[in-house]
Order: sequence, then structure tokens, then C-alpha cells
Amino acid sequence: MSDATQARSGSVDLRRDGQAAVEWVARYLEGMRDLPVRAQVEPGAVRAALPAAPPERAEPFADVLRDLDEVIVPGTTHWNHPRFFAYFSITGSEPGILAELLSAAFNVNAMLWRTGPAATELEELACDWLRQLLGLAEGWHGHIEDTASTSTLAGLAAARELRPGGGVLCSEHAHSSVDKAAKLLGIGVRKVAVDDEFRLRPDALAGALEAEEVAAVVATVGTTSTTSVDPVPAVADLCAEHGAWLHVDAAYAGSAMVCEELRWAFEGVERADSLVVNPHKWLFTPVDCSVLFTRRPEALRDAFSLLPEYLRTNVEDVTNLMDYGPALGRRFRALKLWTVIRCYGREGLQALHREHLLLARLFASWIEAEPGWEVAAPVPFSVVCFRREGTDEENEALMERVNASGEVYLSHTRLGDRLVLRLAVGNARTTEEDVALAWEVLRREAAA
Ligand SMILES: Cc1ncc(COP(=O)(O)O)c(C=O)c1O
Repeated sequence: MSDATQARSGSVDLRRDGQAAVEWVARYLEGMRDLPVRAQVEPGAVRAALPAAPPERAEPFADVLRDLDEVIVPGTTHWNHPRFFAYFSITGSEPGILAELLSAAFNVNAMLWRTGPAATELEELACDWLRQLLGLAEGWHGHIEDTASTSTLAGLAAARELRPGGGVLCSEHAHSSVDKAAKLLGIGVRKVAVDDEFRLRPDALAGALEAEEVAAVVATVGTTSTTSVDPVPAVADLCAEHGAWLHVDAAYAGSAMVCEELRWAFEGVERADSLVVNPHKWLFTPVDCSVLFTRRPEALRDAFSLLPEYLRTNVEDVTNLMDYGPALGRRFRALKLWTVIRCYGREGLQALHREHLLLARLFASWIEAEPGWEVAAPVPFSVVCFRREGTDEENEALMERVNASGEVYLSHTRLGDRLVLRLAVGNARTTEEDVALAWEVLRREAAA
């Protein structure tokens, strides 16, 4: 490579090194099952293994790949592992991985239509495809944010614009991103009680709405701990009565609406003002990709639209995506969502969701059949909350032994006054053998 070329593109020969990088990715994914799921390193080990100061001269790209093998892979908790069952299990799928590469090549910043016509229009199209896949009616405006935290922030900012001074209500089981958004916006949050299946109680919500001025209510379809579904129709009635914005958080479960038989969970969602669904949770799209749908795009624009002179263009009547959320700069996330939808198709997505639901039910049936073990919450989707008889400390210690083995990775939550373990299925590569291994490791460590 000539010095002049190297000065412009670093040491990389795109064809040669690009092939090596794709080969590395293929090997990483193929060999994943042999890796420990949870990183086995001590804090500080990764930094200690790498030079503290940057290189003076260009290094070969091959050295980067070598360090991935030697330092980064051992220092990684592998979220793309088929036996990653903690939190919500996710997938960086092959279509999504390639689309990320392509998106970096474009490197567009689609803040305005003019600065990214294709990225803007593809984002509108991909969100509309997602709307159709989830069985939502026409008329929803969708745009992409990095995370559900930002999407919820955007929804609540629109609500605050309409009713400044009003608070936010959500159930005790709503995700902490609601608290964080409210904190950023300077809004108070009040938690509403849940029933014995961890769903927001409409009678408690009615009482809270009577008691104070409320800008927004957040209902969750698929709560983080148990994936419970709040009664959205009753919540929507109360929001209509009190003039409150209804934001539905379906960050995890929303993607499953691709299966018609699960759409009971979206009953009433048509009446929401905003709705968040994360394709990066359960739609096989690499992190980050969160879609915020709204039936009131003008309210989002009122909350976020600003036009300094240096951003003014001579094109009118177009969508400028910077007007719908807090960030100005926007990367080309639509490319991966569009590619994932195209390369799986509705049928491919449905098949994976149905398999995940079956695997979760199978795991729950093993727990139920085993004396001394208990399923701790209903299983509407692909997450099983369970525990073994004994104290919280014993259950936590059991989880720690299981996770330390590296064979599988689980997480926990608290339901009422009890600690419970969670097994979340959601990775496209997970098979029945993987779930069976999780059960085997749990029983082995429980007996130990
Ligand atoms: C129901 C729910 N909402 C929101 C979030 C926040 O998601 P993100 O990490 O995309 O901000 C989560 C994360 O797990 C979640 O479970």
C-alpha cells in the first residue's frame, strides 16, 4: 500500500482485511457454544492486557483481530450466545451484522431529509413495515431511537409539552427508564399497585388520577421482571377520561405481535398516544434499534423541533427526523431493521418467536414437574421466573454458581418479598438442547 493511501485509510486494505473480518465474525458465531457465556475475567484485566497509550505508527488490522481473540473475546459476556438467558436474551443476527457494516460505509447523518433522503425515507418505510407486521392500524408515525430509554423520554417530553406540571403514573413493575426519563424532564413519578399477576391495577390508577394532575400514564406490555401485560383497554379509558397521554412500553414483547395468536396482548394499544417497541430486544436486530410509534407526531414536533439558521434548507414538506427526538445526529439504523425484516420475512420471524415461546413453556414444565422447584409467575411470552425452595440467599448463591460455570447465564429479580431467578429465551440460535443444558446445570448446582 502506498504511503498516500495509508494516510487516507489507515493501514486497512478493505478487500483483504474485510474478508478476514467477515471470516472472524463467522468463526466467532460458529464457535460461540464453546465459549463461557459470562466473561471469566476480573475487573481491570482487559485494560491491563492492552497498551495504555495509543500507537504512534499505523498498526496492521490483523493485529486488531489478534487482540479480539486474545483479549476482547475472553473479556466479553457473550450476549449473542445461544445460552445467554439473562435479562432479555437478544440476537445480533447475520442480516443485522452485515447491515451494520453497510451502514458504517454510508456513514450518513440523517438529521434532515436533505442530509439523508434515503436514510430518512427508509426509516419511515421500515417503521411502517414493522407497524404492519405487528398488526397495528394505519396512521401511526414511527421513527427510530437508540434505546427504549430515549423513546420513552421522547414520548413523555411530548406529554409534558401538552400538560406542563403534570406527573407520570406507571405500575410498580414499569421499567426504570420511566423514572430516568421523568427525572430528566423534571416530572414526578408515582407508582401504582399491581395485582397478583404483576399487572397494573385500574382501580389504583383511577385513584391516583383523581388525586393529582397527570401528564402521562405508562402501561407496559411485557414488564421487565415477569413480562406481565398491563390492562391497556382499562388504562386507555382512564387516560381518555382524565386527558392524560398514554405511553405503552412494549420494548420487549412488542416484537412478538408478529404472531397473530399473541395479539391479545396489544388489545387497547391502538388508543395509545405513543408506543415503544425495541427490535434490538426480540426482533433479531443488533443493538441499538428502538422504534417509537406515535399517533400524534405533531406533539413530538412541538416538543423537539428547533431550526437554527445553519440547519435551514430549501426543501419543504419533508420529514426531518431530528424533529422527533432529543438527538440531532442520527445514524442509519433503518438499514439493519429493513435488512432483518427482508432476510427473515414475516414467516421467519414468526417461526422464531413461536419456537421461543415453546422453549420457555417446556422449561417451565420441567420446573413444575420437579419437587422443590416452583414457577413464580405466569409465562405469557418467553421468560420464566422460578425459584428453588429455600432462602433468597440460597437462590442467589445457586444463580452465582450456575453463572460462574460459564455454561449458561441467568439473571434474577424480586417479586414481592422473594428473590426469583429468570430464564429468558430470545436468541435466534438457541435450541432445545441449550435450554435442557440450563436445566441440567441448575439441578446439578442445586444438588452440589
Ligand atoms: C420493558 C422495558 N422497557 C424499557 C427497557 C429499556 O430498554 P433500553 O435498554 O432499550 O433503554 C427495558 C430494558 O430491558 C425493558 O425491559
